[in-house]
Amino acid sequence: MSLLIKNGRIVTADDDYCADIYCAHETITRIEPTIDSSSLTDAGNLEVIDASGKLVFPGFIDPHVHINLPFMGTNACDDYESASKAALAGGTTTLIEMICPGPDDEPAAAFTEWRSLAEGLAAVDYTFHMAVVRFDELAQRQLRQIAEEEGIKSFKVFLAYKGAFNISDENLFALMTMAKELGVMVTAHCENAEAIASMQAQLIAQGKTGPEWHEPSRPTTVEAEGVHHLCAFAELTGAHVYCVHTSCDEAVRAAVEARHRGVNVWVEAVAPHLVLDKTYAERPDFEGAKYVMSPPLREKRHQETLWNGLRSRAISTIGTDHAPFKFHDQKSMGRNDFTKIPNGCPALQERVSLIYTHGVRKGRIDLHTFVDACSTQAAKLFGMYPRKGTVRVGSDADLVIFDPVAQRTLTVETSLSNLDYCAFEGWEVFGMPNVVTVRGEVQARDGRFVGSLGRGQLVDRKATHF
Ligand code: URP
Ligand code: ZN
Ligand code: ZN
Repeated sequence: MSLLIKNGRIVTADDDYCADIYCAHETITRIEPTIDSSSLTDAGNLEVIDASGKLVFPGFIDPHVHINLPFMGTNACDDYESASKAALAGGTTTLIEMICPGPDDEPAAAFTEWRSLAEGLAAVDYTFHMAVVRFDELAQRQLRQIAEEEGIKSFKVFLAYKGAFNISDENLFALMTMAKELGVMVTAHCENAEAIASMQAQLIAQGKTGPEWHEPSRPTTVEAEGVHHLCAFAELTGAHVYCVHTSCDEAVRAAVEARHRGVNVWVEAVAPHLVLDKTYAERPDFEGAKYVMSPPLREKRHQETLWNGLRSRAISTIGTDHAPFKFHDQKSMGRNDFTKIPNGCPALQERVSLIYTHGVRKGRIDLHTFVDACSTQAAKLFGMYPRKGTVRVGSDADLVIFDPVAQRTLTVETSLSNLDYCAFEGWEVFGMPNVVTVRGEVQARDGRFVGSLGRGQLVDRKATHF
C-alpha cells in the first residue's frame, strides 16, 4: 500500500510550507507542490488522504518511556500492545524504552529479555537506553557488545534510587570513559541517592508518611547536585551526557553552566513537569499518589523556567517518563509510607496534545520548537536522524496529520494504557492526531488504534559522536 497525502501544511523543526507527500515502500519518496494521483503507477494500491486545513508533522518521538519496569516491588502495568496503542493514538510513532535490569542481572540477558517483549508485539518503532546497574568485567564486555553490535547508542545511569538502580561514582567514571570511547550518549537520572535516603528516613520517623512528603524528601538542591555531579564527570571524561526528566530551575542552571564550561550536556523535560505542579501530589485521600514521580512535581514557578528553556534551546527534548502503575493495586502499596509508592506519572498518550495546548496555543513555544522538542532533537541526539524526526524525501514515512482546532477531553475512558486512572482527567486539550502513520502504514485514526501489532521495528541507530 502506498500513500498520497494531499493539501497539507508540512511543519518541521525548520520548515513550514504546503505540499503533497507521496510515500512508497515505507519511505517518503516525493514531496512536491502538487502530486496528481493519476500520475502514480500504483494507483490501484494507493490510499489518498486529504489533509486540507491540517498540519503534517514528522512522527513524534518519545525519548523516555518505561514499559517493562520491575521497580519498587512491582512491575509497570503496560506491555507493548497497550503502550503502542496509547503512543500511536497520541501521535508518537517511535519510542525509546529504558532497559532497567537489577543489580545482579547480566546486561546481555536483560537486552534479550526487553527486546523479546517488544518484538512481534510493538506497533510503534522502538529502541532502548541500556541502564547500567551492574558493571563488573562481564557486564562491561556485554555493554560494549550491546552498543557496538545491537545499535544501542545510549546508556542510562541512575544517580538516585539507593539500593536499587543507583550507580557508584567509581563505576560512573569508568562507564563514562567507555561511553566516550564508543561514541555512546550517557543519559542520567540526576538526584543524589544518599541525601534522599537520609531525608526520607527523617520524614518517616517524624510520622510524615503521605504522598505530599515526596517532594520535600527530594528538593531541587538534590536534583541540581545530581546534574552538577554528572556534568563534572562529563568534564573529566569527555563523555556526552543527557539529563533526563529535568524538573526545576536550579537543575537547568547547573546544566547551562556546565555547557558554558564546554561540557557536552543536553537536557530533557517531560510533559508532567511542564503542566503539573506539586499541589497535585498534595491532593487529599491519597489521591496525590497518582502524581508521585521522581524528580517530583515542583512549585509552579519552575514550569516557566522549563518553557523558557525550551524556547532558548537550553532544553532540547520533551519526553514523558511514562511509568504506569495502577492507582488501586500498585500506588496503594505506599498508602502508609510515601517511600513505597511506585514512582511514575504516565503521559504517553497525552504528551503531544498537552504540549500543543499548553505550549503552542498559549504562545510559550512556536510550532518549530514543538516539533524540534517532541521529535527532531530526539532523533538527532540518539542517532536516528534523518530517518526519523523530519519530513523529507528518504525519511521513514512516519507522519502525523494533525487537526489543530479539534478539542477534546482527556479521560481514563479513552486511555489505551492499561491504567485505572488518567493523571489529566477532565482536562480540555486542543489538537488531535487525525492520521498517524508508521513507515507508510496508517496505525491510528482519530485517537483509535487501527494498525497491526508486531509491525514495529527496532530502529538501527548510529553513534552521534566520537
Ligand atoms: O518517577 C519516575 N520517574 N519513575 C520511573 C523511574 C525513573 O526514575 O525514571
Ligand atoms: Zn528517572
Ligand atoms: Zn524514567
